[in-house]
Amino acid sequence: MAGQSRIGVTGLAVMGANLARNIARHGVPVAVHNRTTARMTEFIQEYGHEGTFTGAERLEDFVAALEKPRRIIVMVKAGAPVDGVIEDLVPLLDPGDIVIDAGNSHFADTKRRTEDCARRGLRFMGIGVSGGEEGALLGPSIMPGGDPAAYAQVEEVLTAIAAQVDGTPCCTHVGPDGAGHYVKMVHNGIEYADIQLIAEAYDLLTHVVGLDAPDIAKIFAEWNTGDLESFLIEITAKVLAKTDERTGGPLVDVIVDEAEQKGTGRWTAIDALDLGVPLTGITEAVFARTLSALRAERAAAAATLAGPAPGRVENGSDLVDDIRQALYASKVVAYAQGFAQMRAASIANGWNLDLGAMATIWRGGCIIRAQFLNRIRDAYAQHPDLDNLLMVPYFTEAVANAQDAWRRVIVKATEHGVAIPAFSSSLSYYDGYRRERGPANLIQGLRDFFGAHTYRRLDVEGSFHTRWAQDGAEVRTDS
Ligand code: 6PG
Repeated sequence: MAGQSRIGVTGLAVMGANLARNIARHGVPVAVHNRTTARMTEFIQEYGHEGTFTGAERLEDFVAALEKPRRIIVMVKAGAPVDGVIEDLVPLLDPGDIVIDAGNSHFADTKRRTEDCARRGLRFMGIGVSGGEEGALLGPSIMPGGDPAAYAQVEEVLTAIAAQVDGTPCCTHVGPDGAGHYVKMVHNGIEYADIQLIAEAYDLLTHVVGLDAPDIAKIFAEWNTGDLESFLIEITAKVLAKTDERTGGPLVDVIVDEAEQKGTGRWTAIDALDLGVPLTGITEAVFARTLSALRAERAAAAATLAGPAPGRVENGSDLVDDIRQALYASKVVAYAQGFAQMRAASIANGWNLDLGAMATIWRGGCIIRAQFLNRIRDAYAQHPDLDNLLMVPYFTEAVANAQDAWRRVIVKATEHGVAIPAFSSSLSYYDGYRRERGPANLIQGLRDFFGAHTYRRLDVEGSFHTRWAQDGAEVRTDS
């Protein structure tokens, strides 16, 4: 006999619990389950009054509490725990039931699970959910991937609980199998780049302009009223303004400078390498976190390796505005690269991603929500097959206007010995991308010299090899 709950959530750590509460607060009856029962009973005690919940101790009771086709959201740690829950659920489910993984799973795992579940008559969906704890409760951005017919069964609930911007829900069907988790992965990659760029701006404002955290907080608050307006800039101002209760100084000054990571940024960079997409901003952001983690080595190197004599610039306020412009231009590059990667993945996987729709659902709820996503949405509305966002007049002009400041910032940072991997790699990408003729002709010449790897010529069709070390003659290799 089928139960009365419209949807189930298993895994009641913060994200799962908040999603379940968000769904119930929208008037949808929810069954809840957790592997450790105490967490489920505490959940019911604390939040049971917020909606119609059925708390189940055993998975069998949880499944029995659900309407058919059953819709089950799994919110457990990515990796083996997801497979474990699926294995436990499979014998209890009926054909057509829908299992929804809402964690940060790798898209290849989602593809595999979709196929495994299909073989067993079940429908599997991988949905990206962004917005942290608060988003899950009050309105996240949701990136659902999977069979469109399965999505149709959960669309009403997911669009209702998602953030809304100008009346549009931040949730749309992304594509089949792993597409939803892929888009969430790139979202996180862009999140890494955004955060790294902010950290580099903070480093420059501290060590080259000579400001302290409360002053920099004010600068970020002001930047949040212009082109840079976004959630991450807004919370940067708050983090920098926070006073530490123990020391009475800025809290940020006593936080250890080692960045941790759970893997989604690294996966984005690895996939970019596999696809052959230049993803320099996000990849540098991942490397910057790994370099930050070498704290003991850095301490030894700080005492050993030479750098320029420390000093501050004199025209501090000019540099502050240059840094703002450099941050904006680098951010445009990071998004251009992330969107180019999604386009390449869409083609490689046959996903048919609507990139304008991705920009639309990232405008609210998620960690990278920002004003300028409206511009990205507009760009894809006009040019759905756009190769690179930098080629759209709005972004072409934005970067053109910022480029002098961007270059000055990189010069100053280099003179002062401040590492700016994301700022500078973004500018190098920009300069490389806008060159009709780069230096790879020499790379081809060298490859041909040492390995007879051949080259093509500008003036004649075909493939050629020069017998560099023998008689110096050129031979055609494709005829
Ligand atoms: C989100 C966040 C969320 C998580 C990050 C943190 O969109 O809500 O991206 O998924 O906080 O994955 O990632 P790291 O621990 O790797 O920084």
